[in-house]
This record gives sequence, C-alpha cells and structure tokens, in this order.
Amino acid sequence: MLKSVKVGMIGCGGWGENVIGAYQQNPFSQIVALADLNRERAEAVANQYGIPKVYTDYREMLEKEQLDMASVATPDFAHRQAVCDCFAKGLHVFLEKPVATNMEDCYAIAEAAGKSGKKFMTDYFMRFIPQFRDAKLAVENGELGQIVQGYARIDDCVSVPTKMLRWSKDSSPVFFVMIHNIDAVRWILGKEVVEVYARQQKMKLAPQGCDTPDSVQALVTFESGASVMFDSNWILPRTYDGLNDQFVRLVGTEGTAYINITYQGLRVFKPEFQGDFEHSNRATVYVNPMFNGRTTGCVERSVGHFVDCILNDTDPCITIKDAIEPTRIACAIQQSLDTGAPVKL
Ligand SMILES: NC(=O)c1ccc[n+]([C@@H]2O[C@H](COP(=O)([O-])OP(=O)(O)OC[C@H]3O[C@@H](n4cnc5c(N)ncnc54)[C@H](O)[C@@H]3O)[C@@H](O)[C@H]2O)c1
Repeated sequence: MLKSVKVGMIGCGGWGENVIGAYQQNPFSQIVALADLNRERAEAVANQYGIPKVYTDYREMLEKEQLDMASVATPDFAHRQAVCDCFAKGLHVFLEKPVATNMEDCYAIAEAAGKSGKKFMTDYFMRFIPQFRDAKLAVENGELGQIVQGYARIDDCVSVPTKMLRWSKDSSPVFFVMIHNIDAVRWILGKEVVEVYARQQKMKLAPQGCDTPDSVQALVTFESGASVMFDSNWILPRTYDGLNDQFVRLVGTEGTAYINITYQGLRVFKPEFQGDFEHSNRATVYVNPMFNGRTTGCVERSVGHFVDCILNDTDPCITIKDAIEPTRIACAIQQSLDTGAPVKL
C-alpha cells in the first residue's frame, strides 16, 4: 500500500490554491510539482506552499516527475487535454467542476478515465457539506415522501465574472455555478433528468463586452415526475451580503427540506468593505475555514476522500456517471437556451 500520494498540480489560480492547501496539509499527500502557464503565479504559490518544482508546461512535468496523481484546476473550457494526457501517463485524476463545457470533451474525459482504470473524481464538493448529505438521507429515509418539486438557487457576485475570472465569457452561470446545484439535487433525489427548458438574460455583462448570460433559469424534470427550478445569476451587486448566495428547497408529499447555505451564522458589518471580495457574510464556513493554519470544510473533505481512495484502493463516491450526467444536463440547458425549446435527455 502507498504511504503517501505524490501529486502533480495543473493550474494554480484562485481556486487551485485552495485545493493545494488541502493536499499540503494532508499527511498522506504532497504536491511534488506544480504547472501553470503563468510562471510568476506558479512560483509565488510554490514558495508559499513549499512545492519543490515549477513548470509552465504540464506535459514536461508529466515527463520528468514521478507522480501518482494529478489535480487539475485549469479554466472550465481547458480540462480535456490535460486530463486525457494525465490518464495516458497512468495517473489518477482529481478534476475541478465542471467536467467540461461541451459533451465531446466530457465523453473524451470519461472514456479516458474508463480506459485507464485509474481513479477519477470531479470535485462536486456540495456532497461533502453536512446539510446536503442530511437532505439526501431525509429523502432516502422517506421523510419527505415523494419529491414533488424544488427550487435550487446558486448565485455569484458580479466581481466573480468581472474581477476574479479572466475567462468568464468562455463559461456561464450554468457551467460555473449552477452545476453545483445540478449535481447536488440529482444526487439527493437519486433520479435522472428527462427534460429541461431554460431562459436567459443578457442585459449587464454582454453590453460591457463580456458575452455570457447574466442569469439563467432552467425548469428541469426528473424521471420521477418532480420538477426543479434551477436559478443562477452572477451579477449580484458588490454590496450583497456574500460572494455567493445558495438556497435549495425540496417539497415532498410528506415534508419539505430547506437548505440555506448563504447564512451560516456570522455576519460582520463595517462602515465600508475593502476590495472586490469582502462581504458581511463570512460564507467560508462550509468551503475552507482555517483553524490553526489548516483548511477544513468541504475542500479538505473532497480532496481527502480522493487521497483516501488512492491509498486504500477504493472507489471515489463520485463516479464517472456522476461526472457525465450533470454535464449532460448543463449542455441540454445550453441547447434549450440556444433553441428556445424544451430539450429531452
Ligand atoms: N469547486 C468550486 O467551488 C470551484 C470554485 C471556483 C473555481 N472552480 C473551478 O476551478 C477551475 C479553475 O478556476 P479558477 O477560479 O482557479 O480560475 P483561474 O483563472 O483563477 O485559474 C486558472 C489557472 O489555470 C492556469 N492554466 C490555464 N491553462 C493551463 C494549462 N494548459 N496548463 C497549466 N495551467 C493552465 C491559468 O494560468 C490560471 O493560473 C475551474 O474549472 C473552476 O470552475 C471550482
């Protein structure tokens, strides 16, 4: 049995750094090399987290380093080549959501994962948040009866597409944020989707030169007959309480579940907030709160679960089918936006 997993990190932008922290503090994993197109950024992150080697070309890293796995956190549209190259090198792969922004890339990734026989997991980390896990248990236990309908909202502040991401025009609220709720609700219900019908608005970002929807609403029908309205925008004002807003309600024949991830107990009010990412609501409680210099929360749990699976040779709880289906639903939503018509899956 392996004693410690040697990780090659590909992409160390804003999110990649959170993931890096989770590997570096885990006694059973260490990042031995880091690859990012931006050398300056890569060197700064490597220095901060004690990573010995830096590359600007991940293929050179894959050639030169002895790795057990790769962790990929490149932009949404730039996952396929890196992931497939890692599988071709015989590595296990942990991939950020969304798997891809089109089905061709998604199927190529799924096929490469299946053929390699290596472990693969998409970072759908809502599954590691207790509120979502308990909602799934309530559904499984029959506490809500049959699910009739639901509402699932996840939004970002406008600073995400305009300040945080340089590539937001190549993604959308569907692939960047809604995908979290799509995965979570599909997982909680344990049912597949049969039809989607979506609408979008382009009134704010597109006129500023960022051609991506401001907001998308998708009415999604599950095989059980339940309808869930998925609702996501990424234009919440700078002054909104938090960087994100997330709320899920599931109405059943016997009971209703409410998951409020936005308000987790601490709001700090100041005369003014600094920069683009400071808000009154400290919504890091479930994502990556620091205790004594260590990340906890769902980032740590998600990364830690994958490392455990490699060490113990067990299957990740998020399967290849779980990687494909939310992407298929997101692509069907995109098709419905493009055609204006409902799309059957
Ligand atoms: N789990 C979550 O909640 C969560 C949150 C935010 C972002 N993400 C996901 O993480 C991924 C990265 O997002 P981000 O916010 O860090 O973006 P980012 O733009 O901050 O970082 C992306 C990094 O990848 C690098 N890069 C691009 N192409 C590369 C390549 N071919 N080889 C090596 N490096 C390359 C860029 O130089 C950049 O440093 C996205 O898929 C995003 O959706 C997940």
